[in-house]
Amino acid sequence: MLRMTDFPLENKRVLLREDLNVPIDQGRITNAERLRAALPTIREALTGQARLMLLSHLGRPHPGQPDPALSLAPVAAWLARELDRPVPLRPWTDSVWRELPPPPGAIVLFENVRFLQGEREDDPTLAERFASLCDLFVMDAFATAHRAEASTHGVILKALKACAGPLLIQEVEALTRALTAPDHPLVAVVGGAKVSTKIELLNALLTQVDGLILGGGILNTLLLAQGFPVGQSLCEPDALDTARSFLAAARASRVEIPVPVDLVVGHLPIATSEADVRTLDKVAADEMILDIGPVTAAHYETLLRSAKTILWNGPLGVFECDQFAQGTRRVAEAIVQSGAFTVVGGGDSLAALDKFQLADRVSYRSTAGGAFLEFAEGRVLPALEALAERARDT
Ligand code: 3PG
Repeated sequence: MLRMTDFPLENKRVLLREDLNVPIDQGRITNAERLRAALPTIREALTGQARLMLLSHLGRPHPGQPDPALSLAPVAAWLARELDRPVPLRPWTDSVWRELPPPPGAIVLFENVRFLQGEREDDPTLAERFASLCDLFVMDAFATAHRAEASTHGVILKALKACAGPLLIQEVEALTRALTAPDHPLVAVVGGAKVSTKIELLNALLTQVDGLILGGGILNTLLLAQGFPVGQSLCEPDALDTARSFLAAARASRVEIPVPVDLVVGHLPIATSEADVRTLDKVAADEMILDIGPVTAAHYETLLRSAKTILWNGPLGVFECDQFAQGTRRVAEAIVQSGAFTVVGGGDSLAALDKFQLADRVSYRSTAGGAFLEFAEGRVLPALEALAERARDT
């Protein structure tokens, strides 16, 4: 892929696609991690005297129906504060395509790109309109690289010049180092709610990793598929066949998947619910599995200590409640103490690291959710493919 540093920026109209899709509650940004991750690229372009125009989506509005609750206005205000300069928000009026770009070293933010008809469908006419705005299109939104949309894919093919931004490059390099050319042993930790959303990842990991540690609703469904009682636990009775096929594939692989021996249960995933430790076969009908138990955590720690590369996606329990957080905490601590190259992705795993004050002790925090999973599954991400195509044409 061509890089932003391959191009002169001074006085150029630069259209920069970031993923500024952050959680906003009543106008307040509740997690600014993605915005902070985009800042170095924005600063680099401004220092280079680009005439900078920023694009992003926010949430999933109905196409062509601007929804004030999904306006990027809070993001513009946040950026203006951090950059200490005005960041005007440009709505998608009919005249927006004819407006002058900002002067060199200045920035504007376009309104939520998904307010436009044709964005989600990767409409070529819209992609051409984006392309007409710029001399150089910079795709830096790795977290949206798995979407073939007009601002993440079509415009790359239509723009006069197109390249990857530094954040996208960093993400690709970290994930490539962890998955494509890892130091072995490579251990993956996969938690989270659903087997059905992570089954492709799990199957792909079986061909890559030396060890696989499982937790959360995924583990519950696998336990149910093997006939263990799971009471009222979060699990997917509809995914039992999928779970059984995975277990068969796992047995056939040489991947070490430590079997949990104990679990922490409670009656509700809330702070006031009492926690008890149970062996695997003793979960009562009215109980929920809310964490891995201490003996299981110790097994997981041993496996992690021997790893040279670790990929973590998804917590192992309801870490938001202290009495159900120990499993995730012990795994997180083992990850940062392992000395391995460690890549963590997914909002919940990052939130867990923050809660345990281990945030800056991993090698790489990925800001991507779905794109992280698809990359790890070995799928071709449309934006990366388009960037590679442009590089080949050059
Ligand atoms: C994400 O949050 O994973 C990205 O911003 C992509 O958002 P989307 O799932 O709405 O396309």
